[in-house]
Amino acid sequence: MSGLTDKVVVVTGAAQGTGRAHCERFAQEGADVIALDTDTATADLSATAALVERHGRRCITATADIRDGDEMTAAIDQGVEELGRLDVIVANAGIHATGAPTWEITEEAWHGTLDVNLTGTWHTVKAGVPHIGAEGGSVVIISSTNGLRGTANSAHYTASKHAVVGLARSLANELGAHQIRVNTVHPGAVGTAMVLNEATFRRLRPDLERPTAEDAAEVLRARNLLPVAWVEPVDVANAVVFLASDEARYITGTQLVVDAGLTQRTT
Ligand SMILES: NC(=O)c1ccc[n+]([C@@H]2O[C@H](COP(=O)([O-])OP(=O)(O)OC[C@H]3O[C@@H](n4cnc5c(N)ncnc54)[C@H](O)[C@@H]3O)[C@@H](O)[C@H]2O)c1
Repeated sequence: MSGLTDKVVVVTGAAQGTGRAHCERFAQEGADVIALDTDTATADLSATAALVERHGRRCITATADIRDGDEMTAAIDQGVEELGRLDVIVANAGIHATGAPTWEITEEAWHGTLDVNLTGTWHTVKAGVPHIGAEGGSVVIISSTNGLRGTANSAHYTASKHAVVGLARSLANELGAHQIRVNTVHPGAVGTAMVLNEATFRRLRPDLERPTAEDAAEVLRARNLLPVAWVEPVDVANAVVFLASDEARYITGTQLVVDAGLTQRTT
C-alpha cells in the first residue's frame, strides 16, 4: 500500500483484538500510531505499543473512554502534539452486549451499546477530524455485517452499527472537499474475544452443555460462503489499511464487507 509512510493514525479499542491488528498493520506500512483504549487496558496497550515499535514506528498510548467526549479530545490532542500530525482515524472500539428480543432489551443494555458504538464513534471523529491537515486524510469506521442487515436478538447492536453508516455518509459529504475520505468496514465474525467467549459458544450451541470454540465454529462456518468460521483480525486490518492508502484515493462514502461471504449466502 502507498501513501502511509510517516503518516499518523489514531486507533480506538487498540489494546486487543482487531484494534491491535490495525495498529500493527499501519506500523508495517510505515505509519506512527496513537493507540487509545480504556484505563482497564493499560497493560494490553503496552503490548500493542511493543508490536508497533517492533516495526520501527512510534506509538503513543493513552487511556480514554470513548463515551466521554472531553477525555477523547484530550487524548487525541495530546497524541497529535507528540507525533506532530494526524492523517487517519480508525474508529474501532465497540461492544456487543448480551442479546435479547427487541422488546426485552433493558434500558441499560440499549443505552450502554448506543453510548459506546454510536456516541463514542462520534466523539472519536469529533476529536480527530479537526487535526487532519490540508493534504487530506481518511476516516475508517468499524461497523459490522449487522450494519447492513438485521439479526434477531441484537437490535441494540444492529441499530448502532447501522447508525455509524449514516454518520460516515454525512461525514463523507462534509469532508470530501477537504480531501478527507470516510468509509465503513463491515466484518462478519472475527476471531477475537467478542466472539471467542463462553457466552457466545452457548448462544450458538444451545444443544450442548459445555460447547467449545470448535463446536461454535461449526455453526459459524455453515453461515459463510468460504469454508472458514471467522475471519482473523488482520483480515479486517488489511481492509482498513487499503481504505486509508492512496490505492483507495477516490473511494469515499462506501461500505467494505469482510465477512467470508456471510451476507451473500443464499443456500
Ligand atoms: N469480533 C467480531 O466478530 C466483530 C464483528 C463485526 C464487527 N466487530 C467490531 O469490531 C470492533 C472491534 O471489535 P473486536 O472484535 O476487536 O472486539 P474486542 O472486544 O476484542 O475489542 C474491543 C476493544 O474496544 C475497547 N472498548 C470497549 N468499550 C470502550 C470504551 N467505552 N472506550 C474505549 N474503548 C473501549 C475494549 O477495551 C477493547 O480493547 C468493534 O467495533 C466491533 O463491534 C467485531
